Amino acid sequence: MEKSIFPKDFLWGGASSANQCEGAYNEGGRGLSTSDMVTFIPKEELGNNYNLELSLSHIDKYLKGDHGAYFPKRKGIDFYHRYKEDIALLAEMGLNAFRISIAWSRIFPKGIEDTPNEEGLLFYDKVFDELLRHNIQPIVTISHYETPLYLTLEYNAWENRALIDLYIKYAKVLIDRFKNKVKYWITFNEMNMMETTPYTAGGILLEKAKKDKITTVYQALHYQFVASAGIYEYAKKTAPDIKVGCMFGRLEKYPVTCNPEDALQTMKEDQMNFFYADVLVRGEYPGSMLRFFAEQGIDLDITAEDKSALRNNHAAFVGISYYMSYVAQKDPSGIKTFGNIVSSVRNPYLELSEWGWPIDAVGLRIALNRIYDRYRIPVFVVECGLGAKDTAGADGTIHDDYRIDYIRRHIEAMSETIQDGVALMGYLAWGIIDTVSCSTSEMSKRYGFIYVDQDNYGNGTQDRLRKDSFYWYQKVIKSGGTSL
Ligand code: BG6
Repeated sequence: MEKSIFPKDFLWGGASSANQCEGAYNEGGRGLSTSDMVTFIPKEELGNNYNLELSLSHIDKYLKGDHGAYFPKRKGIDFYHRYKEDIALLAEMGLNAFRISIAWSRIFPKGIEDTPNEEGLLFYDKVFDELLRHNIQPIVTISHYETPLYLTLEYNAWENRALIDLYIKYAKVLIDRFKNKVKYWITFNEMNMMETTPYTAGGILLEKAKKDKITTVYQALHYQFVASAGIYEYAKKTAPDIKVGCMFGRLEKYPVTCNPEDALQTMKEDQMNFFYADVLVRGEYPGSMLRFFAEQGIDLDITAEDKSALRNNHAAFVGISYYMSYVAQKDPSGIKTFGNIVSSVRNPYLELSEWGWPIDAVGLRIALNRIYDRYRIPVFVVECGLGAKDTAGADGTIHDDYRIDYIRRHIEAMSETIQDGVALMGYLAWGIIDTVSCSTSEMSKRYGFIYVDQDNYGNGTQDRLRKDSFYWYQKVIKSGGTSL
């Protein structure tokens, strides 16, 4: 067999989140979470929009009854009850890592309690034990696009400084309980999504915010930075063997032309995207962002203590999600293509996925090189995958060669990246098992290598089926990435 470029301890895995997978929203003492309030809106009504920002009247209405609406994230794919079967399939594929998130409201139903909900902790104990029994490392995201709903209603969640302590209390409980089972942790999923969807990323209802949108967004991010730093510090003191990282959605951008103005625009957008890791790895706000705040009149509540917490406590690795690349141009007009929450100018050199997301494996190599060059600490691809419509044949087969092709190209790009000298920790294919889509709450936008028989309204047997990509990834892992 050809010699593998990938290190022996490379983490070959998959990724998921509690709000998209678990279901059982009202079992085991779990409280309501922000994601439970998202209703399914059919494509004919939603068009090319996303279903991520909610209003208070929407929440008020659905707190009083379901009014015939369907809430896909309350049901997920029932991982809560089927985790053993799912983990057995992941083990059969040969995964040595699986990323899940913890539902905050399973541990602290309202977010304000003094003692955690033991039943919630026990559920994750069982999941981690099952993973470890199969030699699969759990990778844990402490907060992935959900907040106890009570915190939204009472505090407007991350708009409020009080969330720092509430989050730290919650995260400390997790670290104390699971430090011997979980080595890799991520404080927040895709921090940059706060800019686009404060409700999803920060549990914030903009209509309740005391300040304008842009100030609210960067204030919430600041609080999440300080909360992250608090957990880096706690881990260092109490669990030196665990690694706690940061994560952002990498928006790799190319200038639309070689006009220096387009290159400058690209640089500025890049600085905005690197901001999250700049703060959490380097420990201070970059000058470019301070200038941006001054120009925009953004005045943030940042204390001397906050600054010292950031300066002294840093992320152990940089996690990224990567789905596509983007194009930047000085002139804001231009052909728009739909992206992962962010739209951009159409790149004529790239094909688009069925959801209009440009496919660009070379962009992943560029992104990883640039991140490593900038921070010089290990980089981890904690999400990457292709959302597509899959059809199960009468015999239960699913031929997803388009997905295999996408993942193959991205693994090839990672192999090049490792040869470029980048310390790459692993690759976690997003939605290794079909889940509810984050942005549209559809089931029909499938990322999995394992198919789940469930439709957009939650109908179906929920049976799990192996797609062609399942057998292909199994071979890839077994060969250490040489058999692509
Ligand atoms: C990332 C999120 O932005 O993209 C995931 O962290 C999400 O939660 C993934 O599922 C894919 O996006 P979508 O909207 O296609 O599910």
